Formats: sequence, structure tokens, C-alpha cells
Amino acid sequence: MTRRIAVIPGDGIGAEVMQSARTVLDLLVPGTGETFEYTELDWSCRRYEECGEMMPPDGLDLLAEHDAILLGAVGWPGVPDHVSLWGLLIPIRRAFQQYVNLRPVRVLDGVPSPLRPELAAGVDMLVVRENNEGEYSEIGGRFGRGTPGEFASQQAVFTRTGVERIARYAAERAAARRGSVTAATKSNGIVHTMPFWDEVVRETLEKSPVTLKFEHIDALAAKLVMSPRSFDVVLGSNLFGDILSDLAAGVCGSIGIAPSANLDPTGRFPSMFEPVHGSAPDIAGQGLANPVGMLWTVVMLLDHLGFAAQGARLMSAIEASLRDPASRTRDVGGTGGTTEVTAAVLAHLTGQEEKE
Ligand code: NAI
Ligand code: MG
Repeated sequence: MTRRIAVIPGDGIGAEVMQSARTVLDLLVPGTGETFEYTELDWSCRRYEECGEMMPPDGLDLLAEHDAILLGAVGWPGVPDHVSLWGLLIPIRRAFQQYVNLRPVRVLDGVPSPLRPELAAGVDMLVVRENNEGEYSEIGGRFGRGTPGEFASQQAVFTRTGVERIARYAAERAAARRGSVTAATKSNGIVHTMPFWDEVVRETLEKSPVTLKFEHIDALAAKLVMSPRSFDVVLGSNLFGDILSDLAAGVCGSIGIAPSANLDPTGRFPSMFEPVHGSAPDIAGQGLANPVGMLWTVVMLLDHLGFAAQGARLMSAIEASLRDPASRTRDVGGTGGTTEVTAAVLAHLTGQEEKE
């Protein structure tokens, strides 16, 4: 069978880490017994500067013909961030009902966490973020522009369908792990949407075997730093999940190692896989980008497409390379660059083959 992958390297280090991903895929895919066919798309801020749009008008139709989307990062100084986000990422997430944003968080061996070692060792959680609605809505506007009474108003949108399906997904993942879901809330301050979110999450998980706990977002932020090991699956609305997953990535030592997937669990539409980090203009073009976030994202892509064995092999090659400072980038206390890390991961993969 041929799997069709849409590849969007994007801007800055997005393109650099995409090269690592492709190199690693070229080594792993033959072992799946199937072929991957890649469609390279130049959708980016560079494209926006040239022709005024992040992607062509029929972009979503083109993507729909693929089994998955692999994205580097988009964003560049000079192009407002809301243009790159609302012109590309958000339309893809919404049109394809990618209602789950999944972010595994682990403190990996060799990666120095900013936390004391006894707090950081063994952190292993999964942040499940609602990805289609909530606080990131287009409903609202500006009134009285330029007048003293000017104001802006924005409406958060929580639907029963949207909350139920993300809660159910979180519970399924927890059932396959340590069996606990911590749901982020703020029902003491946000009086309409958050009590509704709590109510629907509680009802959805009533008959589930997992344990459910609610934590107010502010207290939860502190607990993620003070005792990150106590969390298994953390469930958040769009905004809360967004913030918590970057916080959790920080606890693990660098945003450069964090992976993510935007999933349509029904499989009706292609899902999109992307590292958590952005285009990092401050280090772009210097060969310094940590490719681990992207390579771990490739692990998620492989798992999603049903190639769990290849995914597991890649994960253990990534972990092996992180144990050696020479094959770690500077953001995680190493001396290597993108090329050295990629070469080390490839060498570990080849070494695994020889052992087999
Ligand atoms: P960023 O993630 O690009 O960079 C934040 C800091 O982390 C920088 O100091 C950068 O050098 C470092 N960093 C990030 N990834 C790294 C890696 N792989 N290896 C080593 N160091 C790494 O976030 P920032 O600076 O807020 O945003 C830059 C641009 O990226 C903006 O235009 C923003 O909108 C965009 N962005 C895009 C995202 C996406 O495509 N999903 C996500 C986040 C930001
Ligand atoms: Mg974020």
C-alpha cells in the first residue's frame, strides 16, 4: 500500500528539522513493507510575502487526498503571527476535525530539566488539548475603533459534542496508561463555560474506569512544576491545554524536544503532526535546531499510521542519542548541531538493524 504524506516544512528551523525527519523516514519506511509518497508544499510566510496567502485557495482539498500531514513550523518576523496561524494551522485543524491536540511529555535521560532531579525523574504525562473550539473562536469584534470608548469582545464557545468527544478521548488514553485524568478548569472565575465543561466532562466519564480529578488552572500550573510525576493524562480546553503543554515541555528541559499531533480520531480526515516549537528565527539557518521534537513527532506519525514497531525503534534511537552530549544540541546541554543529532539517530537505527 502507498501512504500519501503532505509535507509542509514552513519557515525557519521548520525546514531544517523537516530534513532530519525525511532522512529518518527514508531509513525506516522500507521496514514497513509499504511505500510513502510525499507531496512537498511550500506553504509558509515566505509564500505569504510573495503572493499574499499562506496556502492556495484549494489547499484544503489538496491536503484531504493525503493520509497524514507532516508540518515543520510556520511564522516569520514581518508577518503577523495571527496571519500564519489563522491562514494555515487553524483552518487545517478545524476543516479536518482534528479535535485532539496530543502532546506527550516525558523527561528523557540526558536532557537536563530545570527542576531538581528528584522532582524531574520519571515524569511521563500526556496532555490532551481540545483543538477545535473553546477560547479560540472567531466570534467577537472591536467596537468604536479609535474612540475613547473603544472595546474588544471575544466569545468562548463550548459545545456538548466538542467537550464529550475530547473527554472520551482523554479517558481512552488514560485507560491504556495509569488510569487517571486531571481536567483543567476555572469554574470559580469563569461562570458559564467552565461549569458546563466540568459538568460534561464528569458526565462523560461517569461510567469510565479511569479516575477523574478537576484542578483549577492556576493551582494546576503550580502543581505541574512542584510535582509533575503525579500526573498521567492532563485534559484541557483549547487555551488551557495550549498553555499547560508548553509549561510541561519547559519542565522537560526544552521546547525543542516536544512533539505533538492534531488528530481526527475518526480517521475521516488526515491528521497533522508537528513539533510544538515554532520557526525559531533567532537560531534559523545556523544548523543549531534540535531535531528531536520533530523526530518524536515522526514517532507519533508512524504510530498513527499503524507502524508501531518502527515508531518504537525510532523512539529508542532518539533516547540513545540524547544520552551522549556530542549527539545533543545546545538547548539540551550538548555540543552537537542538527546534523550531528540526525546522524547519531541514524547510526543507532542502523545499529539496531545489525543487532537483529
Ligand atoms: P519558538 O518555539 O520558535 O522559539 C522559542 C525559543 O526556543 C527560541 O529561543 C528558539 O531558539 C528556541 N527553540 C525553539 N525550537 C527549538 C529547537 N528545535 N531547537 C533549539 N531551540 C529551539 O517560539 P517563538 O519565538 O515564540 O516563535 C517564533 C515564530 O514561530 C513565531 O512567528 C511564532 O508565531 C511561530 N510559531 C509557530 C508554531 C507552529 O508552527 N506550530 C508554534 C509556535 C510558534
Ligand atoms: Mg502553544
